[in-house]
Amino acid sequence: MNRLSDRKHRKLKIAIDGPAGAGKSTVARKVARALGYLYLDTGAMYRALAVLARERNISLDDHETLGAMASSVKMDVREDNGVFRVFLDGREVTDKLRTPETDRAVKLLAMSRPVREVLVSLQRKFAEGGGVVMEGRDITSVVMPDAEVKVFLTADLEERARRRWKELREKGIDIDLEEVLHELKERDRKDLERDWGRLVKVDDAVLIDSTGKTPDEVLAEILRLCEVKASCSTDLPGACSL
Ligand code: CDP
Repeated sequence: MNRLSDRKHRKLKIAIDGPAGAGKSTVARKVARALGYLYLDTGAMYRALAVLARERNISLDDHETLGAMASSVKMDVREDNGVFRVFLDGREVTDKLRTPETDRAVKLLAMSRPVREVLVSLQRKFAEGGGVVMEGRDITSVVMPDAEVKVFLTADLEERARRRWKELREKGIDIDLEEVLHELKERDRKDLERDWGRLVKVDDAVLIDSTGKTPDEVLAEILRLCEVKASCSTDLPGACSL
């Protein structure tokens, strides 16, 4: 059995942040599978609420109403066969999460502090006990500042746009690369400028640039960081620093 998933070893919290299209979901899922840990795609949670807000015609700048919506809906998440599924009050919304319309809506919804407070609290509950890989924008800074392994995963803007474009084309969505690039820049800007839960590389996060790397190469780098942390015999600050 892999040493890290061995029950004798402590169960780590692994936090991965980075901009859209950096490859966080693919890599985080692989890390979780390799270690037998739980995986949480926090972007999918924001996306699910963006879908609901659109269905209910809630204005995306009405932060209070969005917050009330977030706290009154029951959200369940589940991963099966490599698909991260989201259910709202028992209804599956997975198919609607990664459409251009949701891309446009989620960047505005993610600015709502009341929404963020609801989701951060759910995410912290999920992390209790460790043995979890979580990815998003504010995981290393807000949701799991106590994570043993923190990664800031990035890649060139053009490469990120190409990856996202390919993903959309594979789903049969006909969209220009230029349009995807524009949308990505816009989301980067919004992720960096919001007051609360903005995308930031915290000091103790390890920077990994995935440009030109395969997901398996990035996986190997993260597993190596986990090995170092798991073999640490002390929690003293500065000990076993990555
Ligand atoms: O997969 P991609 O990087 O394109 O996006 P995502 O991770 O699914 O996140 C969707 C949106 O939710 C992003 O545009 C972020 O603005 C927002 N988000 C956030 O604000 N905080 C998180 N922890 C995760 C996502």
